[in-house]
Amino acid sequence: MRPAAAATIESVIYLDHAATSPLRPEAREAMLPFLDGHFGNPSGLYSLGRQAQAAVDTARATVAECLGARPTEVLFTSGGTESINAAMLGIAYAMRRAGAGNHIITTAIEHHAGLHVAQHLEELGFEVTQLGCDGSGRISIEEFRRALRPGTVLASVMLANNEVGTVQPIAAVSGVLREFAGQASHRVLLHTDAVQAPAWLPIDVEELGVDALSLSSHKFGGPKGSGVLYLRRSTPFMPLLHGGGQEMQKRAGTENVAGIAGAAAALEASTRGLGERQRTVRELRDRLRDGILERVPGSQVNGCQVNCVPNNLNISFDGVESDVLVRLLDERGIAVSSGSACSNSTWEPSHVLMAMGVPIRRAVGSIRFSLGEETTGGDIAQVLDVLPGEVAAARAESALPV
Ligand SMILES: Cc1ncc(COP(=O)(O)O)c(C=O)c1O
Repeated sequence: MRPAAAATIESVIYLDHAATSPLRPEAREAMLPFLDGHFGNPSGLYSLGRQAQAAVDTARATVAECLGARPTEVLFTSGGTESINAAMLGIAYAMRRAGAGNHIITTAIEHHAGLHVAQHLEELGFEVTQLGCDGSGRISIEEFRRALRPGTVLASVMLANNEVGTVQPIAAVSGVLREFAGQASHRVLLHTDAVQAPAWLPIDVEELGVDALSLSSHKFGGPKGSGVLYLRRSTPFMPLLHGGGQEMQKRAGTENVAGIAGAAAALEASTRGLGERQRTVRELRDRLRDGILERVPGSQVNGCQVNCVPNNLNISFDGVESDVLVRLLDERGIAVSSGSACSNSTWEPSHVLMAMGVPIRRAVGSIRFSLGEETTGGDIAQVLDVLPGEVAAARAESALPV
């Protein structure tokens, strides 16, 4: 068995990019000066501080450019979870304070960050409508339209799902909200969790028609502990963090300058060559999928392979407990995930697969393969060589009916 300490991106076939991704060289290079001599606090009025502030300003302009936004609409946060919390709570509180209402629409397939914020809002007296999805993991626009009512203040619908990769029709959702705005006394604000999108989908806030959008830097080759919140100008918002006046009074606290510089450099690099990256990774993903379906009896794809990010493949293996297979593959130097990595410590059948109507016996044997830019044809061939034997071993160990 490989000792955990020796595992690196070079020694492991890493197929868990939806959990986190290796730092891009561009991000590392952008960060280094601020981990070193350029350590100033951006609030400092002397040159060390001004240098740091200039780096934050440049990063903000870069991120804005990548998203089709204005620099003043970009806030830096500590990651996807904070961005989602700030967007949903900040907008919901502000709208309720303005007397606009207290009804929120969200979906059953959000990442726990969105799911649990909605539950928290419910505990605070908000009314929450949770939309279901079809067997491919997509919500229905008609159902969304029917959920709207006079007191609706916020809709939060993720862009790309982290477990099965399904992409939601966000532009169509915002189209429905524009129609609805004609009949209502106030705008319904739209937030999207776009954490799984960069490097795999184009992101343009105008085309999506969103008021708020959340990103997490480590999902696209930036550092951990660094995120982005796009907040459209004039969006009603109550800050989550109170303190200094950083981030245009919307997110107090000394800026993580290195993390911000790294996030911006990574987002810019992820945006470049998108079409080519999509094609290459989709071809590898399809090769992996077809090879598994051909070589491993009792395997089935979960989710959609059309309206989805190109790097995600979620497959159930009958009679397998996914944690057992993850361990056996790890022993062969292959890193994959059972469902969502973020929920691994408290294992239960994935809420996403349950919402899609996947039977429990299949959901417990689901594995997520998420490819990255450095994944090669050789990696896929090796996984296809190893997998049939390890699935058989996992079946023997799992003692579930096949
Ligand atoms: C879709 C989605 N949203 C939000 C998050 C939370 O991001 P972070 O853990 O970086 O805060 C994740 C992380 O897996 C995710 O996949």
